[in-house]
Amino acid sequence: MGSVSSSTSKKELLDQKNAEADLGGGEQRIAAQHAKGKLTARERIMVLLDKGTFEEIGKFVLHRSKDFGLDKEHYLGDGVVTGYGKVNGRLVYIFAQDFTVFGGSLSETHAEKICKIMDLAMKNGAPLIGLNDSGGARIQEGVLSLAGYADIFYKNTLASGVIPQISAVMGPCAGGAVYSPAITDFILMVENTSYMFVTGPNVVKTVTHETVTAEELGGAMTHATKSGITHFVSPNEVECLLAIKKLLSYIPQNCEENAPKLPYENKNESRPGLNTIIPDNANQPYDMREVIAEIADADTFFEVHQNFAENIVVGFARIAGRSIGIVANQPAVLAGVLDIHSSQKAARFVRFCDSFNVPLLVLEDVPGFLPGTDQEWNAIITNGAKLLYAFCEATVPRITVITRKAYGGAYDVMNSKHIGADMNFAWPTAEIAVMGASGAAEIIFKREIAQAEDPAEKLKEKIDDYTEKFTNPYRAAHRGYIDEVIYPEQTREKLIRAFEMLENKVDIRPRKKHGNIPL
Ligand code: HXC
Repeated sequence: MGSVSSSTSKKELLDQKNAEADLGGGEQRIAAQHAKGKLTARERIMVLLDKGTFEEIGKFVLHRSKDFGLDKEHYLGDGVVTGYGKVNGRLVYIFAQDFTVFGGSLSETHAEKICKIMDLAMKNGAPLIGLNDSGGARIQEGVLSLAGYADIFYKNTLASGVIPQISAVMGPCAGGAVYSPAITDFILMVENTSYMFVTGPNVVKTVTHETVTAEELGGAMTHATKSGITHFVSPNEVECLLAIKKLLSYIPQNCEENAPKLPYENKNESRPGLNTIIPDNANQPYDMREVIAEIADADTFFEVHQNFAENIVVGFARIAGRSIGIVANQPAVLAGVLDIHSSQKAARFVRFCDSFNVPLLVLEDVPGFLPGTDQEWNAIITNGAKLLYAFCEATVPRITVITRKAYGGAYDVMNSKHIGADMNFAWPTAEIAVMGASGAAEIIFKREIAQAEDPAEKLKEKIDDYTEKFTNPYRAAHRGYIDEVIYPEQTREKLIRAFEMLENKVDIRPRKKHGNIPL
C-alpha cells in the first residue's frame, strides 16, 4: 500500500498534467486566439455540449516526432481535444483542433486521436462533429502527417451515410483540413475568422500571379455564395455552434434510425393564406419561402445553403412534429429555373435526406432548365442528371406539390410520380406541359402562323388553344400522374396525413454494389 505522501504527490502530478493539457499552447497563444475573436478548442466544446457531459479521450497524448526541433516542443493532447458528450440529451462524438498548438496542424498522433473517435462514432451510431481550426498536415512530420490525413479521409468515407458528419470550420483551414470537411455532410463557417483553401493567398500569388486576400479566396461568404462549399455561415463562433445544435435536432443519430418526431396534436390545419400567394399573372414571381412558412410547423424551417443557388430553396422543417427535408423551386430568383448550381445543391440535399431517413417534400414551380452556352459547356446535362438520379434513387417517403409551372424535363426531375414519388398533389394553378404556351405555339404551329392572313391573331389563337389544353393539372390527373388536385389552403392538412400514411414505407431496390451517380 502506498504512503499518504506518495498518493498525494501522485494526485498532484495528475492535477498538474490536467492543468497543462487544458492550457494548450499556453496563455499567450490563447490570448492571441481570443484577440482574433476566436474561442479555444475547449471553450467551443463547452458551448456546444450539454453542461457537464463532455468526457475527454486521449488528453495526455504526445507527438512522437524528433525532427526540426519537435523533440524539444511537446504539448499534452497534441493539438486536438477529442471525446464524447451530449447535445440536447443525445450522444455525439467530437474533436476540436487547437490552433494554439502548432497552428492546430495534424501530426501522426493528432490523426490517431481523431480516428479513434471516428471509430467509436461509427460503432456506436452517433454523429461525428469536427471543429476544424488547422493549418493542415504538420509540415515537420512529412509523410506521417499525410498518412494521418489519408486515414481520416478513408474513415470519413466509410462513415458517410452511416452517421451524420458535421464540420465547423473555425479558423484558417488549409490542405487536409479542408478535404476532410469536404467529404462530410455539412460544413459551417464563421464570418471573418474562418477560411478554407487548398493553397493560401501566398501560394496563389507565386503560381498564378493573382493577388487575393484570404477572405476573398476562401472566406465564409466566398464559400457560401461562389463555391457553395459551406452550407451555413454564422456571424460569430457561438452562433455557429448553436447552428450545429439546431441542425442535429432535425436528423437521426444514424442511418438505422428515423428522424426525430416531436409530439404534436392536430388542430385546424387549414391555411387560407396559401389561396392568394400565386399571382394572377403566371410570369410574376412570388417567394416560395412564404409557401413553406404556411405549410411547415411555425418557425421550424431551417434553411440549408441559403446564399448559394438561390433559385432553389432547400432545408429542414417539421410538419406535425415530424422532421422533413424540403426542396422547393424559388420563382422569386431566375423564375425558379434549374441550372448547374441549383441541381448540385438540391441533389446533395436529397441524398443526405435519403441516407438518413428524412422524408422529402418537393414544392414545384419550375419553367425548365436554363438555356445557354455557359450552362451547356459547363455540363448542365451531367449536373441536371445528378438531381434526377438523386430523386430516382431516394427511397424515403416522397411527396410533391405542384404550385404552378411544371415544364419540360424539370417536371420529370422534380420528384414526379414516374421517378418514384409516393404522392403528387397539384394546386388548380398548376401548369403541366412540355413548355410555356407561347413557345409551344410558335414551334408547333410555325408554318400555319406564317401563312395566316393575320399571323399575330393566329399566334394568339394557338396560344389560347394550348393554354386551355395544357396549362392546368387535369390532363396529368386524368392519367393518375397527379393523385389529387387540391385547394392551396388544404395543403398542410393533406401533407400531414400523407406523411403519416407513408411512415412505414419500405422500398426495396435491385441489389448492387453501388450506383454510379453522374459526378
Ligand atoms: C506546422 C504550422 C502549420 C503546419 C501553421 N503552423 N501551419 N505548423 N505545420 N501545417 C504553425 C505556424 O508555424 C505558427 O507557429 C502557428 O502554427 C500559427 O501559424 P501562423 O502562420 O502564425 O497563423 P496565421 O497567420 O493565422 O496563418 C494560418 C495559416 C498558415 C493560413 C494556416 O499558417 C499556413 O498557411 N500554414 C500552412 C498551410 C499549409 O500549407 N499546410 C499544409 C497543407 S498540405 P508559431 O510557433 O510561430 O506560433 C496538407 C496535405 C493533406 O494538408 C492532403 C490533402 C489532400
